[in-house]
This record gives sequence, structure tokens and C-alpha cells, in this order.
Amino acid sequence: MLSEKLDLGKLKRSEREHTTTYGSRYFSESIPKYEMPEDGMPAKAAYQLIHEELNLDGNPALNLASFVTTWMEPEADQLIMDTMGKNYVDNDEYPQTSKIQDRVVNMLARLFNAPHECKSVGTGTIGSSEAIMLGLLAHKWTWRQRREKEGKPADKPNIVMGADVHTVWEKFARYFDVELKLIPLTRDHYTITARDVAQEVDENTIAVGAVIGTTFAGQMDPIKEINDLLVDIKKTKGWDIPIHVDGASGGFVAPFIFPDMEWDFRLEQVKSINVSGHKYGLVYPGVGWIIFKDKSDLPEDLIFDINYLGGLMPNYSLNFSKGSSTIIAQYYNLIRLGRKGYKDIMTNMFDNTLYLAGELENSGKFELINKNIIVPLVAVTLKNADFTVFQLSEKLREKGWIVPAYTLPADAEDVAVLRIVVKENFGRDMVEMLLEDLMEAYHKLEKEGPKAVKESNPTLLY
Ligand SMILES: Cc1ncc(COP(=O)(O)O)c(C=O)c1O
Repeated sequence: MLSEKLDLGKLKRSEREHTTTYGSRYFSESIPKYEMPEDGMPAKAAYQLIHEELNLDGNPALNLASFVTTWMEPEADQLIMDTMGKNYVDNDEYPQTSKIQDRVVNMLARLFNAPHECKSVGTGTIGSSEAIMLGLLAHKWTWRQRREKEGKPADKPNIVMGADVHTVWEKFARYFDVELKLIPLTRDHYTITARDVAQEVDENTIAVGAVIGTTFAGQMDPIKEINDLLVDIKKTKGWDIPIHVDGASGGFVAPFIFPDMEWDFRLEQVKSINVSGHKYGLVYPGVGWIIFKDKSDLPEDLIFDINYLGGLMPNYSLNFSKGSSTIIAQYYNLIRLGRKGYKDIMTNMFDNTLYLAGELENSGKFELINKNIIVPLVAVTLKNADFTVFQLSEKLREKGWIVPAYTLPADAEDVAVLRIVVKENFGRDMVEMLLEDLMEAYHKLEKEGPKAVKESNPTLLY
């Protein structure tokens, strides 16, 4: 055996432990995978082993699939490290952290134009998914309380939304036993209309879901029109149906780029909004926000007072313990960037998005499906190609680019798109390089010809 020839066995294990990290035995043994080892290993060896293994992950800077922030300023990194050990839920022990989260809630309520007479409330969450569940639960409670007060049955709640919503909405309906009234999309129209909503709502509708910045195509449901419809229904039929706006992506974009667009608390029936701090809020993963227009939109029944961590703490969340650092990092961004800082970053992202979209359209090979760009992303279909967007996505992966391909939800499943999310650290230089590689991949596939056509969809959408 080669190892005998080299006489590796002669070096005693104990001698090799007092050497460099790469000279230690841990680098010529398998890493523990199934059972916790009896003895540990030096910190440097453990670090380096895991660090090397993680190189197999994609490069976050080239991950154009995810909306989630991959870069923050070093000062934010420092604050995050400083606060890693603080449990967000222990607000009696960490009262300042709790005050900071309240400040963020206040700032967001104002950013979303809550009327002055309202007392907005809200909380930090692990992401938009938890925030959406909390918002919709509140509406389910309010609806049930109202029905019971009126002496009417409250056993058949339903929720109305388009198939353009993120899966978390469908999850809510299933987990919390609410009938899902999902409005299908149509080819060439990837959002819902107020007319669709009018056909679905009834006295058992706990809320209508509307999205600003859809996951699939970055578009926006006609929130103002849906609001006007619901105001009308309230007047004529007496059904007070709230809108929950899913601003996971658009909530941190529209206030800076489209300040005059009415989609938020300016609209009468918009009672709650969620936003992902970790998307265009520009914070690393692990933070979302749910904001209620007014205290009365969050039934007190759902708020738990916990006393065993010290003082009396009001708690409205699905999970309990979690880190504080992303909440702190959100506050850092808000005061560090201010409205102008966010606007400058968003403006660059839009410039780059428009440039990318324009180049792709001008090539004659792609068709833009989000012509009305609401959030900085580009979603395109292929025009007359002998291959699929899935193959193009795979080819780009060879160069390190992570660009997802997927089919749209029902009834537009026959539309397969390639989606590129433009983040703050994806500057013009990177856009140009992506375009070059995208075109090269396109020409290679063209040369390979139709025999290579394959219908796989390996990329998960999130
Ligand atoms: C429109 C929309 N809603 C909700 C979510 C879920 O958000 P989170 O990942 O913050 O839980 C996403 C995620 O991409 C989304 O795009």
C-alpha cells in the first residue's frame, strides 16, 4: 500500500497532534458524521474542517436566486457579533434590545404611512413567514369574535388570495384550518384582479391577501382597487374584510422608489403588513416584521403575558427563543442609512435591474414577464429556443452563477421563467459579467441542439 511505502505509520499520533492544523491527524481521518465522538478536537482543526466543507456551498455573492441579504457593513457585522448571545425573548433581561425592536416597529409603521390617530403595534419575527402567520391569525380571531358577538356561526372561515402568493399563505390555511380560496393566474397575467376578489369574498372571509413584489415575478396585486372594492362591500353588505399586505420584498422598496403609490396603511382596509428585514431591509437572514395598523387589529387574546423570565413580558410569536442580533442589525441599517441611504441603494438596484432587463430584451432571445418592475428582479422566458430555461440555469451553474428556473403557479404552469434578483452588492460590473456568461451559455446550448432538451427542474425557489 502507498501509505506503507511512505511509512506514515511511523509518526505517532500524539506527535502529530502538536503540529500545524493541516499536519494534525484530523486531516487524514474522516470527519465524524453519524455519532458524536468520544473525544473532541482542537478548535482550529474543527473550524478548518467545517470551513473547508462549506466551500462546497454556492457562493452567496453569485446567488441571484435568493432575495436574502448576503452582505452587510463591517460595523453591522460587529454589532451582530456583540449581540449573538442575547436571547430576543428575554426582554426583562435585555430591556434595551426590546426598546430597540419597538423603535423599529415605530419606524416601519410610519414608513408604511400609518395614520397619526392610530396606535400601531408590531413585532420582530424570524422572517415574513412567521409574520404572515401572526397577521392572519389575528384576522381569524377578530372575525370569529365578531361572528360570535353577532350570534352567527364561526366554523367556516375562509381566506382569499391569488396563486401568486408564497407557499407560506397556503401553509397558514392548512395549519390553521381556514378554507383556502385561491384565485388562479392566467397566462400573461400573473397577479389577481379586484374582480376576481369580488367573486370569492363572503361573510366568512377573514382577510384578503395581497402581495407587493410577488415571489414568482416581482409584481404587485392591485391593492388599491381591492381596497376600494372591500370598502364598498363594507358599506353595502356590512362585511368588514381586512387586507393583509405581503410586503416581504416590496415593503422595503416601494416607500423609497414609489412613495406616492398607495398600497399601505393609507388604504382603509389594509390592517396589517409584513416585511422581510432580511430581503430589501438589507439585513442577514433571520428577521421579518409584522406591523398592525392599530392596536385594535391585534386581539389581546393572542398576546401572552409571561412572567417566569423576570418581569411581565407580553409575547406574540410562534416560536419563543431566538437571537437578537438581526433585530439590532435592522436598527443599525435604519439609523445608518436613513431614508436617503435606502433610496440611494434602491435606486442603484433599479438602474441595474432596468439595464439587465433592457439588454436581455434587446438580445431578442428573451421576453421580460415583469414589464412593470416593482422590485429589483428580472424574470424572463425564452423566445423560440430549442432548449429550456432549466438547461440555461444548469449551464450558468458551471460558471458559479445561481440563477433559478421554474414554472409559474396555476393556471400559468406552462410558463417557465428564469429569475434574477438584483441585490445591493450586485453592481453594474457584475451585471455585465452575468450577461456575458448568460449569452455564452445560450450559444453553447444552441450549438448542442435540440437533442439536449430536458425537462428537469433542479432549482428550488425561495
Ligand atoms: C412574497 C413573499 N412572501 C413571503 C415570503 C417568505 O418570507 P421569509 O423567507 O422571510 O419567511 C417570501 C420569500 O421569498 C416572499 O417572496
